[in-house]
Amino acid sequence: MAFTSTSQTDWTRSDIYHNSFLIPPNNALTAALKLSEKHGLPPYAVSEAQGKFLNLLAQSIQARRMLEIGTLGGYSTIWLANALPEDGELLTCEISKDFAMIAQINIDNAGLTDKVKIIVGPAITTLSNIKSNASFDLAFIDADKQSNVEYFIQAKRLVRKGGVIIVDNVVRNGRVADPDQSDSNIDGVRKLLEYIGDDPTIEATTLGTVGEKGYDGFLYAINKPNIS
Ligand code: DHB
Ligand code: MG
Repeated sequence: MAFTSTSQTDWTRSDIYHNSFLIPPNNALTAALKLSEKHGLPPYAVSEAQGKFLNLLAQSIQARRMLEIGTLGGYSTIWLANALPEDGELLTCEISKDFAMIAQINIDNAGLTDKVKIIVGPAITTLSNIKSNASFDLAFIDADKQSNVEYFIQAKRLVRKGGVIIVDNVVRNGRVADPDQSDSNIDGVRKLLEYIGDDPTIEATTLGTVGEKGYDGFLYAINKPNIS
C-alpha cells in the first residue's frame, strides 16, 4: 500500500467529520472557547474529541472526585465536570488569576459552579497542602511541562489505588522521541516517562492522538491496585 502523507487540514477535517456524528454541539463549551480566545488565552485547550474522551473516561470509572492541574479557560474542566454525579466535585489548579477569572465565568455559564473549585496559585503548593487521603478517582495533568514529574508525584499521592492519571502533550509532534531535539517542555515529558518507567506502582501507556490539535498524545496511567 502506498504511503500517503496527511496534513493538518486532513486531520482537522477528520475530527470535524467524526465529531459531527458523535458529539452534539454544546453552547457552554463553544462559549468557553470563544471567551478564552477573546481574552487572548493561548489556544492550548484539548480538542473537542479529546474533551469527549476525558468525559467518557470519567463516566466509565464513575469518577466522583477529580483533580485537574492547569485550568486555562476551563474547557477540559467543563468536559470532565459534566461527567460528575450530583454530589461529585472537581478541584482545578491554575497559576494565572486572569485565566482563572475567565475559567470561572465559563464554568458558571456551564452550570457547574457548585461542582468545580478553582484554586489559584502554583499547583505544587496547592497540591502539597491537600491531605493525602487518596480520595480522587481521576487526575488530568495539562500545565507547564517542565513540572510534569512533580505534578505526577502529587497526583499519584492524591489519586486512589486503581484511579487514573492522564497527562496531556506527551508526544509533541514526535519531538519527544527525537534525539536531536531538546527544550524544557520536551525534557519535562522525557523525565516523566523515565520516572514512570522506574515506578513499579504505576502502569501506563501513551496513546498518540492526531486531529485538529495536531499530532500529540495522552499518557494514560493507573495507580496500580494491590500495591501498598
Ligand atoms: C500546547 C498544547 C497544549 O495542549 C498544552 O497544554 C500546552 C501547549 C501547544 O500546542 O504548544
Ligand atoms: Mg495540553
